[in-house]
Amino acid sequence: MLIHRPRRNRRNEVIRSLVRESHLLPAHLIAPLFVIDGTAQRVAIKSMPGQFRFSIDELVKEAKELYALGVHAVALFPVIDEKLKSPDARESFNPQGLNARSIRAIKEAIPEMMVMGDVALDPYSSDGHDGLVDGESGEILNDPTLEVLAKQALCEARAGADIIGPSDMMDGRVGYLRAALDEEGFHNVLIMSYCAKYASGFYGPFREALDSAPKKGDKKSYQMDPANAKEAIREAMLDEQEGADILMVKPGLPYLDVIYRLKENFTLPIAAYNVSGEYAMVKAAAANGWIDQDKVILETLVSFRRAGADVILTYFAKEAALLLRK
Ligand code: PBG
Repeated sequence: MLIHRPRRNRRNEVIRSLVRESHLLPAHLIAPLFVIDGTAQRVAIKSMPGQFRFSIDELVKEAKELYALGVHAVALFPVIDEKLKSPDARESFNPQGLNARSIRAIKEAIPEMMVMGDVALDPYSSDGHDGLVDGESGEILNDPTLEVLAKQALCEARAGADIIGPSDMMDGRVGYLRAALDEEGFHNVLIMSYCAKYASGFYGPFREALDSAPKKGDKKSYQMDPANAKEAIREAMLDEQEGADILMVKPGLPYLDVIYRLKENFTLPIAAYNVSGEYAMVKAAAANGWIDQDKVILETLVSFRRAGADVILTYFAKEAALLLRK
């Protein structure tokens, strides 16, 4: 006689729902959105089918749709005109720049929408790096970069950003940004730190969308080695001490173990960034009829929740919200 029959708990959907361990809601999702100058523009991103570069008017429409579907947070990534890029990335803190204007537009149209501003120099840097580059040695300069990042974060906070997302991986930037924000009275602005961000091949489509690939070299001197997990704990400890509100792991799927480790070791909420390459792989396989896209989207997103992620940044946000509605 069989005593243990785990299948009993899977007998039908009601029982499965009773014993389900992880849940996925639109409220857990943040939708990353790309912005371009102009009006009435929705420019398709080739390597990310279903994703667009939105002009601000279209961006606001998209944000309204997301909000109505229960996705109440967006992360903005501006596509900066090549002419505005410079070695000092000064466009990153232009109060009339595309980034600040898009934050303001969403906050004006939907004040309840949580808007996350990206903090890193790559979209604005003629070198395509997240930090300032030493012209002679090619070194990515840590401490001088912090000053520019702080200007960028303040520019975003003044435009109305609710969350600041430093994605640059410079040392000490969480503490530096926290101090700069507090000094100007922005003590209520959150910092979601990209704390374990790996030097990954999965960012390819994003760099195409923003035209932000490094002109020379790679990002390995600041983004983490994919082989390391203990180092993620070290990064997380530092960001916690420096005052981060949420710790992020990026990319997502290849790093579920890192999400799990951070969840086990820290009390701060954990976010996972399901990045552009992960999105592109699903879309490409689905377009070939090789996988069931809807199933794979929900399975992917619930796997982040199971691993320990509270928050998920994903280009599937809208599709997932529509699927969850059914
Ligand atoms: C750079 C940045 C990147 C992403 C978000 N911010 C790419 C990079 O580090 O080169 C990637 C996101 C994605 O692939 O979806 N600051």
